[in-house]
Amino acid sequence: MKTLIVYFSLEGNTKWAAERIASELNGDLLALTPKAAYPDKGFRKYFWGGKSSVMKEAPELEPYKTDLKNYERVVLAAPVWAGNFAPPLRTFIQSEDLTGKQLALVTCSGGGSPVKAFANLKMLLKVPGELPTLWLVSPREKPDQKNETAIEEFCRQLNAEKEDN
Ligand SMILES: Cc1cc2nc3c(=O)[nH]c(=O)nc-3n(C[C@H](O)[C@H](O)[C@H](O)COP(=O)(O)O)c2cc1C
Repeated sequence: MKTLIVYFSLEGNTKWAAERIASELNGDLLALTPKAAYPDKGFRKYFWGGKSSVMKEAPELEPYKTDLKNYERVVLAAPVWAGNFAPPLRTFIQSEDLTGKQLALVTCSGGGSPVKAFANLKMLLKVPGELPTLWLVSPREKPDQKNETAIEEFCRQLNAEKEDN
């Protein structure tokens, strides 16, 4: 089963997680890049990113060449922004057909709950049941063996799900 890990990351934590998952699952990576970059410093970072998240924006993305047809499994990853998932992932989900793919969700937060971000992602994806999820607290900035264990467990769960089908 070919796996694509699609992610947006402003400060490298979600990128770190996506790369670790890609190496566990032997998957490919697709980094989403908004055409208008979000500020990455100081008050402006929280203000504009937070506003974009609360307003449920779908920012225009730089074009990418990845063809989803080549993948049976798609892992979607984004940071938690103002309690929700960061908006570039919304643009991706709205512009791609993910029907029939095995899906899984990943978020990185600064410590706040991922529950709303996962619930909103599932709603946007129109997935009725549960999906495998992984939540890490800023894993690049705060290296922790617990993160490694959680990533390995998440990937094991995905592979077990594949064998069930
Ligand atoms: C605009 C903005 C809003 C954020 N909102 C939250 C939040 O509501 N809860 C939380 O725990 N962390 C929040 N954070 C922290 C990030 O989720 C956390 O640092 C995450 O690891 C960043 O991922 P990244 O390095 O891939 O960008 C926020 C960060 C930004 C920039």
